[in-house]
Amino acid sequence: AVVVHRRMKKAGKWVKAMEMVKDFEEKCATPLSRLRQVSDAMIVEMQAGLASEGGSKLKMLISYVDSLPTGKEKGLFYALDLGGTNFRVLRLVLGGKGRGIINQQFVEVSIPTSLMTGSSSDELFDFIVAKLAKFVAQEGPDFKPSPCRQRELGFTFSFPVVQTSIASGTLLKWTKGFSINETVGRDVVEELTKAMERHGLDMRVSAMVNDAVGTLAGGRYANNDVVAAVILGTGSNAAYVERADAILKWHGPLPRSGEMVSCSSLIPISEHSIASTSFLWKNRVANGISLKVINMEWGNFKSAHLPLSEYDLELDAESLNPGDQIFEKVMSGMYLGEIVRRVLSWMAKEAAFFGDTVPPKLKVPFILGTPAISAMHQDTSPDLKVVASHIKDIFEITNTSLKIRRVIVQICSIVATRGARLSAAGILSILRNMGCDTITEGEERRTAIAMDGGLYEHYTEYRKCLVNCLNELLGKEVFESVVLELSNDGSGIGAAILAASHSKYIGCYD
Ligand code: GLC
Repeated sequence: AVVVHRRMKKAGKWVKAMEMVKDFEEKCATPLSRLRQVSDAMIVEMQAGLASEGGSKLKMLISYVDSLPTGKEKGLFYALDLGGTNFRVLRLVLGGKGRGIINQQFVEVSIPTSLMTGSSSDELFDFIVAKLAKFVAQEGPDFKPSPCRQRELGFTFSFPVVQTSIASGTLLKWTKGFSINETVGRDVVEELTKAMERHGLDMRVSAMVNDAVGTLAGGRYANNDVVAAVILGTGSNAAYVERADAILKWHGPLPRSGEMVSCSSLIPISEHSIASTSFLWKNRVANGISLKVINMEWGNFKSAHLPLSEYDLELDAESLNPGDQIFEKVMSGMYLGEIVRRVLSWMAKEAAFFGDTVPPKLKVPFILGTPAISAMHQDTSPDLKVVASHIKDIFEITNTSLKIRRVIVQICSIVATRGARLSAAGILSILRNMGCDTITEGEERRTAIAMDGGLYEHYTEYRKCLVNCLNELLGKEVFESVVLELSNDGSGIGAAILAASHSKYIGCYD
């Protein structure tokens, strides 16, 4: 009788666990109708964010990237790409005369967590500049700077910044894993410059950009059809080319044209040679239209239509920035693993999913990273070996049954699928806003979107799911006109190229 009772109890727990998974799956559901509602809501917020400062949770920040690289840029330039748990420093030599990048090197450095939260602004920037200075000191003979100029740097700073010029801007707030109160409200270029002075590094920041904007510029350098960029990495964001007369909050000296700009009137401009593309970016009026690059900060999007579960609400409440970055928290690399951990942890508690006690490691926030989710989700071995080894290594849970491992894969899949489909809805919003979601018969058009970030690059199932979903949302014909182009390290390279096109010493190399 005891054995039977025990078995019944176990079966009851399993039923409970399965109910929890089913409930979670339902709450994360993203049917096309729901995604269209999300996209409608995002477009409303985009308009509100463009209309007035603080008009929406979507900041729709105006970048000062008004001149696109033409291919003529020449010389040695540096970039510093700060935005995740690692930062990168790059140097590249641009060949000029359309020769592109002829030499490049980079190093990647991980930032100690103690510097990301709780430290002082100076400590963070000192750490970064020390690494940058070391990298500069290792400049070999292939990277000789011109004697008539200071070294120049493009600074990719992947946080929300209100810019006042191409090389200045105030930090609105930290996102992702950063939280240093002191820096908020300060000019981050000044913070970096002061640290460079402290280290005796003679270098000028000639452009500061968000990674989405850098990726757009870098993507555009390589491909004229690029009109938007999406980052799917630790965080998530998008930038795109907007017509200036739609940016009501912009009071700069721009001629207004009453003409509607649709996708089809954007694209013919970009089909010209790369030189004339700079027309598009220089706020000159081409076809009566002037354009600006907008950093959407879409990670902060929020809507009642977003499919959220109690695990997401709990994650948000316990995060560094409760109430903020809700879109980002359901679809970007920093959070996917953490959502899965929270689901598993509740299943362990409420349904004894891993036995009578909750394994202690399961309670550690952020212990489960998205690379692990990706590996488990894509485990093709018949007995799910990869899942077993990850669960053992990360949570110290041994002897999981195949049945349990299958459920873990299912949870990873639910989380990744929701994230990928929501990203597709975000992309749909940009395309709709530009009028690129329809096509007339016989029209030959290509709309390219530069994609960057580890999540998109490495998590194949996520990427496939995003692409399939975009196809479903747009329909085959329009979908075929859209190209998602992986722009590897586009944000750093884009910033170096922008440093060149905004150089104080243009012509020095000629
Ligand atoms: C976060 C930042 C944003 C950045 C994105 C991707 O959302 O706020 O500025 O572009 O992460 O790195």
